[in-house]
Amino acid sequence: MDKFIIDGGRSLKGTITISGSKNASLPILLSTLLTQEICTIHQVPVSRDINTTIRLLEYLGKKVERLGHSIKVSPRRPLKTYAPYDLVKQMRASVLVAGPLLARFKKVRVPLPGGCAIGLRPINIHLEGFKALGASVSYQKGDVILKANRLKGASIKLPFPSVGATENLLMSSVLIPGRTRIQNAAREPEIVDLADFLNRMGAKIRGAGKSVIHIVGVKELHGAWHAVIPDRIEVGTFLIACSATGGDLILEGTCPEHVGALLKKLKACGAVLDIFPNRIRIRMKSRPRTIGEIKTEVFPGFPTDLQAPWMTLMCFSRQGRCRIQENIFEKRFMHAAELARMGAQISVAPPPAGEAKSAPSRRSVGGGVDGTTVVVHGTGHLYGAPVMASDIRAGAALIVAGLAARGRTEISRVYHIDRGYEKIEEKLQGVGARIKRVKE
Ligand code: UD1
Repeated sequence: MDKFIIDGGRSLKGTITISGSKNASLPILLSTLLTQEICTIHQVPVSRDINTTIRLLEYLGKKVERLGHSIKVSPRRPLKTYAPYDLVKQMRASVLVAGPLLARFKKVRVPLPGGCAIGLRPINIHLEGFKALGASVSYQKGDVILKANRLKGASIKLPFPSVGATENLLMSSVLIPGRTRIQNAAREPEIVDLADFLNRMGAKIRGAGKSVIHIVGVKELHGAWHAVIPDRIEVGTFLIACSATGGDLILEGTCPEHVGALLKKLKACGAVLDIFPNRIRIRMKSRPRTIGEIKTEVFPGFPTDLQAPWMTLMCFSRQGRCRIQENIFEKRFMHAAELARMGAQISVAPPPAGEAKSAPSRRSVGGGVDGTTVVVHGTGHLYGAPVMASDIRAGAALIVAGLAARGRTEISRVYHIDRGYEKIEEKLQGVGARIKRVKE
């Protein structure tokens, strides 16, 4: 297992080129299961989750060729309709094979992904949607089995705008006869990118990026090429890192409109931002100012995937408290205890009075688990310490902490970080950070 060793305290200066979005690449690569023809996807990041997706496609019967950031997917043999547990447990997004395989073969068997470090993460919304399209759902030995004699377009109202459920239902309904309407759909940029790719394959999707998506099923889809959108979470991580260490960073190949909520908060923190169509320059000269409150929300709100790095940033503010409310996942504060090892002062707080009612409908989802709130008391500094990554973004938060902390930080379990960030240490070395990867 690898670990990162970071000698903190250096400001970041230079240019970083942003990779393609991991979260957009996963469903786009899996939607090649919808066609027998060749698809080529460009700007796919090199990361562990992408490797897992490639293994999954190969297992199911596709031929996958990779050249740098481009991936060509072609038919090799008749497709299997079962995803193996050892791949699903490595990457829960593997459940996204259900939509395309159900639509093509009217049956699919997928292991239930189970919980993970950030919460229960059930797939009930996916399954209710498939039922509305005509599938029956049964369970056997930890797997969920979907079957249908006949699938038919339907009007589906999601109880929560789940990203994965919206993707799975999009990928099935494009090949299902009739009209499908997904209400309360997720509006994340990754949904729009998936719909763009599916439309290039011949699908008829309207309204992606809005709350209601309309799909008219077609008989078959053909091969297509696509270039994946930039990774907005990688952009956000580097913007936050620069705000914590100070410096002057240019991020090339970005979509600034995908990180609007973060940019607003960073400005309020004192960052100077120059926004261009494909580039963001950030300059930070002082300690970040405290922001009173951050609440994670569905897009275009503040993304849950940047909550952990944001918590680190607030540790470096000098005075004041930042209240951080996580509304998307119920267990997403594992990094707080690791940050405390580096001297962070973080306490758990109940949500403010009246808040429980006004927060997003998350509470009605998946067993009604409440969002949680913590308060960061900024002290202006952290100290290096040995810490452990518990998930991708918690790991990113520890990297930000290590970069801006005094002294040496050792981060173990960096395989979590490798799932979602492409060569993060090399990108950071290129802008002056002292970070190296060593074998544990
Ligand atoms: C995706 C992203 C992840 C991001 C998240 C929210 C990928 C591969 N991952 O995850 O990085 O943090 O969106 O922006 O794109 N839920 C249910 N039942 C369901 C589905 C979801 O209760 O059937 C709950 C989840 O437990 C969670 C919340 O809804 O608490 C949001 O989940 P969802 O939007 O589906 O996130 P993912 O697609 O898993």
